[in-house]
Amino acid sequence: VVKASASAEQFAPSNIALCKYWGKRDTELNLPINASLSVSLDYLGSHTRLIPIEGQVDEVWLNGQQLQPGAKFSRKVSEFIDLFRRDQLLYFRVETRNNIPTAAGLASSASGFAALTLALNDALALDLPSEHLSILARMGSGSACRSLFTGFVEWEMGQREDGLDSHGIPLDHHWPGFCIGLVEIDAGEKATDSRSGMQRTVETAHLYQSWPLQAAADLSRLHQAIAERDFALLGQTAEQNALSMHATMIASWPPLLYWQPDSVAAMQKVWRLREQGLPVYFTMDAGPNLKLLFQREDRDTLLQHFPDLETVEPFGH
Ligand code: PMV
Repeated sequence: VVKASASAEQFAPSNIALCKYWGKRDTELNLPINASLSVSLDYLGSHTRLIPIEGQVDEVWLNGQQLQPGAKFSRKVSEFIDLFRRDQLLYFRVETRNNIPTAAGLASSASGFAALTLALNDALALDLPSEHLSILARMGSGSACRSLFTGFVEWEMGQREDGLDSHGIPLDHHWPGFCIGLVEIDAGEKATDSRSGMQRTVETAHLYQSWPLQAAADLSRLHQAIAERDFALLGQTAEQNALSMHATMIASWPPLLYWQPDSVAAMQKVWRLREQGLPVYFTMDAGPNLKLLFQREDRDTLLQHFPDLETVEPFGH
């Protein structure tokens, strides 16, 4: 029984997958059909503060604004805290602030649920090891299990039905000079969230059958690229992996196309720059925005072509 309950504040970084998580084998526990690999975004992410309150319901604040208890994010947060609350009367004011430039249109659910998990661990004095925290964060949002760690992180799919072996594991590799650039196409909320998008793809796209094989092959290529610091291999693998995931989405019914005309224009710009000899690649998630992968020495050249690019160095400057 949890008795202690104090205020707590924690930070967790956002993460970008180089090999994507797409498809659940268990929708309750958020168990993936394939393993994935991401890189955490250093200081870009979520700060979450928990303050115990009297009352029968949590208060959820996002970027300084209180949300209605019925709002989707509020409900998800409260249901997540239920995992820790069980039968006890234990409610919180939850304040989340994302320092991810909202304009970049980056999903913040991964960093948000990771920071909330860390804050609950403190507030309730649970003292859980990071693997357990990663498992808990996974229940809030699958990709959140990778945001418990910095640098390159693999999410092992695991074999067990209870999901106790499905969590993030940090890779023991640094890559100074490795850069990510956020290209904003549209910062608005996406029409189809990743949960329903995955479900539709798994249930209706025949093409999805090839996805687990593609993801497994890409994962081992990424391990090789990271171990050998082979940037071209990493970039090519990540870009092909993202496009393969989008191919399965497009092959769903009703079709799921997250791209906008400007997304395609940005992809073509990347391909043109690469033809001209600039080693730049992109990846995309369940939305219209692009994330560019490049190396520090090419940053200034790239900024001439993408002047509004928000850049991050996941392994510091
Ligand atoms: O963690 P979720 O349920 O928001 O799903 C994330 C899905 C992708 O962003 C498209 C891929 C990934 O691995 O992050």
